[in-house]
Amino acid sequence: MGLPVLLECVECGHRQAYQPLAPTICEECKSAWVEPHYDYGSFKRELLRGLPGRAFNLWRYHEVLPVNAPPGVDNAVGGTPLKQSLHFAETLNLSRLYLKDERYGPTNSFKDRQAAVAVAVLQEGDVHEMVIASTGNAAVAYAAACAQTGIKLWVFLTSMVPPEKLREVALFGAEVIKVSGTYDQTKQIAAEFAQRRNLLLDRGASNLAARESMKTIAYEIVEQLGWRAPDWYIQSVSGGLGPLGVYHGFQELLNMGLIDHVPKLAVVQADGCSPMVKAFKAGKSVAEPVIPETRIAILATGDPGKSYTYLWKLIEKFGGTMEGVSDAEAWLAMKSVAKTDGLSVEPAAAVAFAGLQKMVANGLVTQDELVVINCTGHTFPVEKHILGDQLSVDVEIEQQEPSRLREGLQAALERLDEKTTTVLIIDDNPDDAHLVRRILEARKTYRVFHSNDPWDGLAQARQRRPDLIILDMMMPGLDGFGVLEELKLDKRTEQIPVIIVSAKDVSLEERQRFMGQVAAVYQKGSLPPRAFADQVVEVLEKSKGES
Ligand SMILES: Cc1ncc(COP(=O)(O)O)c(C=O)c1O
Ligand SMILES: [Zn+2]
Repeated sequence: MGLPVLLECVECGHRQAYQPLAPTICEECKSAWVEPHYDYGSFKRELLRGLPGRAFNLWRYHEVLPVNAPPGVDNAVGGTPLKQSLHFAETLNLSRLYLKDERYGPTNSFKDRQAAVAVAVLQEGDVHEMVIASTGNAAVAYAAACAQTGIKLWVFLTSMVPPEKLREVALFGAEVIKVSGTYDQTKQIAAEFAQRRNLLLDRGASNLAARESMKTIAYEIVEQLGWRAPDWYIQSVSGGLGPLGVYHGFQELLNMGLIDHVPKLAVVQADGCSPMVKAFKAGKSVAEPVIPETRIAILATGDPGKSYTYLWKLIEKFGGTMEGVSDAEAWLAMKSVAKTDGLSVEPAAAVAFAGLQKMVANGLVTQDELVVINCTGHTFPVEKHILGDQLSVDVEIEQQEPSRLREGLQAALERLDEKTTTVLIIDDNPDDAHLVRRILEARKTYRVFHSNDPWDGLAQARQRRPDLIILDMMMPGLDGFGVLEELKLDKRTEQIPVIIVSAKDVSLEERQRFMGQVAAVYQKGSLPPRAFADQVVEVLEKSKGES
């Protein structure tokens, strides 16, 4: 059993019970920073026995993760190599530089750990739909994990995110919403969207499961080094979730007496978005938000909130630094690592390598120190060739003065509501479907999908879970009654409102058969566009109001 025994507030020390999926907020002082505690005694005994019979993946340490039990082996994330750098290390005159090569995850970044544990918690809680805002890699990782487990995922990304990442998220079947605003605005839109639809929102650094997943990096490093801690741990940082989780792991290992010190922490940020570095260099415990101006969109969290303060405290306690590097320095480091060690890393990861170069140059890291660097991130661009244009829903936030930002966001949210309202037309006659689509699209910016086959239509209904289905009566293979029956028999589709649009006269008897099952019945030849569109809007609003 791995579930935390209790939660302890880092601010006031209050202890309370752990409830999976509930926001972890201290009941006493309302701080969002509470840390879980597990049954360390029995876990330590297992560790000392060498964790017999356990594969080398992150579930190896499941007793200190917030799950009841590890999911099946299919979810075997983590267990990445710790490689000694030879030639890049030589360029720095370092004798013991190790790379934790997180490119070996299912989507090639350390965010795969986060997705694996967060999704395992969702599965244990029987949750089937969720919302996430991400700077890129977390979205890719969650999209893959959700695809594997059948969870419907809504991903909010900024338009700065490289198109390869966006395509990869779409490839895994997630709903992609691209917001032309900052990442902090994108997070806000995602939060309000989740609230309106009553969906679970992944809260990034304050999602306990997400944070805890990262500690497995610390456990693996310590085990791979033969049960000892490095002198330094270096990572590029955006919101700070990574190192916060990793350091919970190092501290647990210290408390269990399995290592004799906690490594010094180096947080590296891109200069164009370095609120943490700025605060750290100014000796402040609180970071001021910035408007990101880096091309490395993956690291563009302008407002790190309390995460900075917790990282700052870690550095006060265990030593370390925060360092900024320019985009150009990151590109150079990227080339250097590729040429010397044959590793192709993405710019966000290269930021950490450039940070190390700086720390060696200014004498902070010395020649014989044991350094581990989180090396992560690599997206393959094959999706480009197999996906069409309809990848994402785009949301534009009009640039407003700060005092009117709220209105801008509100208007964007309303437009988003329309754009994410999906209507599925199941009709074997493409001309009829086209007419219905035109009527609807003239009215609002709905996303309209069409299927010209009843069985394919049912499959699309299950997969897309549209907000409304417009159904033809006469189709070869299975008629409208048959489709309706199938829809009502499936939990995923039983609640979706249906409007019938029939080519033939609908008899009184047939109308009676539909009673209570469909929202309206129309006849094609005399379809009144205005009244029809009005009714569609009304049905959609009513059903959204109910959900
Ligand atoms: C390669 C890489 N490095 C660093 C980060 C920063 O992550 P965080 O600050 O959330 O730990 C990310 C985020 O997605 C990333 O993909
Ligand atoms: Zn408290």
